[in-house]
Amino acid sequence: MNSTARNIGLALGLTLAVGAASVAYSQPSRARAIDSRVAAMKTIQASMGAINAELKKPMPETAAVQKAAKTLAQTANDVENMFPAGSGAAVKPTRAKDEIWSNKAGFTAALSSFQVQTSKLNQAALSGDLEAVRAQVPRTAATCGGCHTPFRGPAPAAPAARPS
Ligand code: HEC
Repeated sequence: MNSTARNIGLALGLTLAVGAASVAYSQPSRARAIDSRVAAMKTIQASMGAINAELKKPMPETAAVQKAAKTLAQTANDVENMFPAGSGAAVKPTRAKDEIWSNKAGFTAALSSFQVQTSKLNQAALSGDLEAVRAQVPRTAATCGGCHTPFRGPAPAAPAARPS
């Protein structure tokens, strides 16, 4: 074997090894995507909760509303990358339904209206007009259900005794 052929052989071997490694790592990375989006959803819920709680106060603090609205809008954008193909129930328990991937256009539409409404909420907060924020909250909250109803499965039941 001349050295060129050996180098090609080496390069090919390396490529195959890297290819095998990426296959081996894809399962854990899909599992991480599930963990990331569950954490992101918790942040999203906490941010909505913080905005609602602030608005209920007799003297709501604009800065507190702005902080939560910014987190909400940013997380709504970030979550877009947390639904890689194959990160469904085959990987680990998840409430993400297969329709997310089988009806990609529907999911993308639900996600983008969520992003639009959270962005409007953030803009309203930035303007300092808390009445505008108040009006935008239910429009934003509607987009949660707009995605959950078609694309999120039921919460897992409380852990039952394992059948023996
Ligand atoms: C584009 C779709 C989409 C939008 C919009 C969306 N969610 Fe979710 N949400 C999901 C999916 C899918 C899951 C299940 C994730 C999983 O288990 O892998 C989920 C899970 C959750 C969970 C459960 C997290 C856990 O502990 O398991 C909460 C809470 C939640 N979402 C709150 C919200 C709130 C509040 C909003 C709106 C402000 C919202 N979501 C908007 C798709 C969405």
